[in-house]
Amino acid sequence: MSRFWSRVVSALTPYVPGEQPKIANLIKLNTNENPYPPSPQVLTAIQAELGVDAARLRLYPDPNADQLKAAVAKLHGVTAQQIFVGNGSDEVLAHIFMALLKHERPILFPDITYSFYPVYCGLYGVDYRTVPLADDFSIDPADYTQPNGGIIFPNPNAPTGRLLALEAIEQILAANPNSVVVVDEAYVDFGGISAISLVDRHDNLLVVHTLSKSRSLAGLRVGFAVGHPALIEALERVKNSFNSYPLDRLAIVGAVAALEDARHFERTRQAVIATRNTLTAELQALGFEVLPSAANFIFARHPQHDAAKLAQALRDRSIIVRHFKLPRIDQFLRITVGTDAECKALTQALRDILG
Ligand SMILES: Cc1ncc(COP(=O)(O)O)c(C=O)c1O
Repeated sequence: MSRFWSRVVSALTPYVPGEQPKIANLIKLNTNENPYPPSPQVLTAIQAELGVDAARLRLYPDPNADQLKAAVAKLHGVTAQQIFVGNGSDEVLAHIFMALLKHERPILFPDITYSFYPVYCGLYGVDYRTVPLADDFSIDPADYTQPNGGIIFPNPNAPTGRLLALEAIEQILAANPNSVVVVDEAYVDFGGISAISLVDRHDNLLVVHTLSKSRSLAGLRVGFAVGHPALIEALERVKNSFNSYPLDRLAIVGAVAALEDARHFERTRQAVIATRNTLTAELQALGFEVLPSAANFIFARHPQHDAAKLAQALRDRSIIVRHFKLPRIDQFLRITVGTDAECKALTQALRDILG
């Protein structure tokens, strides 16, 4: 607290990102990063952009990142006018809260979901109401028929990993023709079907993607949204009132290269899916209850062991996973799917801890 702080800043409750420890030889399964490196084409593209003398860094990047929008458009069969790009999907989401979710009525999102959503509400003064997930932690579309100023949820949901079928999303869209429905598909490539296929039929749908997870580029900070051009224009208006150049030159070319390398994408995502399935079976064999996951993480609890204590015991063995001290989920651990070797080390450590 300081007398120099604005009233807005004093009232903020900022998001707490997962730890990025500086310790070496840690098995880091806490922030849903991809365990595999990005496509080698990313490095080639970045080196080419730098050139021998990096002279191009003198110049501002393309404020519209047209090259990246063209790559996204080609990949997803949409037009460039249906795409907004930003500095990580977190920035894209921030602009969405400001541009499309700040209305008279409260917006709706699940009680258990990405914990940045209430933070954006705090920052932009967006009123919200949380909708409890069902007992099995699934989203029931029937719960999203009450009057609202907008709807947002991740699919698969985070941190549960549970997937909502496209038909259920269409039900929510149809029940809310006058609200923007935002589907945050940060993890969709690990087991879901993208709702981008629905944007041409629903002018109230906005789908958000990130290159941080399935494209292994959390360090480059690139995300995008796909929806009706009128929704995209709203986001461009906010972006051009905030920072005209959210993506630097290296991020633009690196992201394009990653999106163009279909083989690398397919190989790494299939590897993550295969490891997730093995890890799920092994944890179940140790007595864990594991929610069905369509993401690159799993959400699991052990009926006889306290989750906080398990997280600490793993940490003592240099393995970090995420534990949320929140209602309904404080007995769960969220475990990012690592390499086979990392997951093996995790199950070995758990076997040791459980005795
Ligand atoms: C559901 C969800 N949405 C969005 C993000 C943000 O991703 P990024 O800002 O790296 O694109 C995350 C990150 O973990 C997430 O879990």
